[in-house]
Amino acid sequence: MTYENIIAEVKGNVGLITLNRPKALNALCDALIADLAAALDAFEDDESVRAIVITGSEKAFAAGADIKEMIDRDYMDVYKADFITKGWTRMAACRKPTIAAVSGFALGGGCELAMSCDIMIAADTAKFGQPEITIGTIPGAGGTQRLTRAIGKAKAMEMCLTGRMMDAQEAERSGLVARVVPVDSLMDEAMKLAEKIASFSAPVAMKVKESVNKAFEMTLAEGLMFERREFHSTFALEDRAEGMKAFGEKRKPEFKHR
Ligand code: CAA
Repeated sequence: MTYENIIAEVKGNVGLITLNRPKALNALCDALIADLAAALDAFEDDESVRAIVITGSEKAFAAGADIKEMIDRDYMDVYKADFITKGWTRMAACRKPTIAAVSGFALGGGCELAMSCDIMIAADTAKFGQPEITIGTIPGAGGTQRLTRAIGKAKAMEMCLTGRMMDAQEAERSGLVARVVPVDSLMDEAMKLAEKIASFSAPVAMKVKESVNKAFEMTLAEGLMFERREFHSTFALEDRAEGMKAFGEKRKPEFKHR
């Protein structure tokens, strides 16, 4: 399937999405978001895809929602269309593990899209920010919520209230990104990480993802119970039996992803 604003390809067991609107620093226009949602639908349906990587260009992961497209919209336009909800929530709703490989600017909706992924790896050139206040609006795709959960109130308030950018090293120190790597090795590292995840049992990886995400939605007691029940449910999987049997037989497991 070919798209106008992104490139979607399957490499081994990894679905790779490259945002591809270079003239606008990958600004997330409606058409790009629709392409992204369609590509994620296709990857979710493709059994061979067991992890997904999303990236941009060296200069910009994405410089935010498309400001030029928003200039003439009024309140009723965005309220009626529930702007930001449609399409934009597709990444966070993805059931397969997702990795954002960020180089250059990840601003506004770009930072929010990256934060909707399960793991973020940053090139040493990456710059994160929620600059919406500088254009008279506020983050609308999760910036005030996911950034605060990731880096805490003090830094999230400072970033959202001033629009200042955070570099890759600060982002790693603050817990926003899992790892910083030299820009030239960003894609190698992201693909290696995705392939590693894809080598494990797909249903188990999905259960890990669901359980970690519950930590943000539930009380500790509810989360622990959810985790325990998911742990129990792995005993219904062929891959759990194979994984433990292989350990006992001192060999590599052959997961069937069932
Ligand atoms: N929307 C639309 N077009 C954008 C854009 C955006 N978010 N960001 C950059 N572009 C366009 C520029 O208009 C420019 O186009 P032209 O060549 O046609 O003029 C092109 O991309 C290159 O950009 P610059 O010339 O500005 O590049 P730069 O290197 O000088 O600056 C930048 C880079 C600092 C990222 C700057 O482009 C910038 O500040 N962009 C806007 C960032 C921003 O405010 N993002 C938040 C958007 S609102 C939002 O995202 C809401 C939400 O929560 C969902």
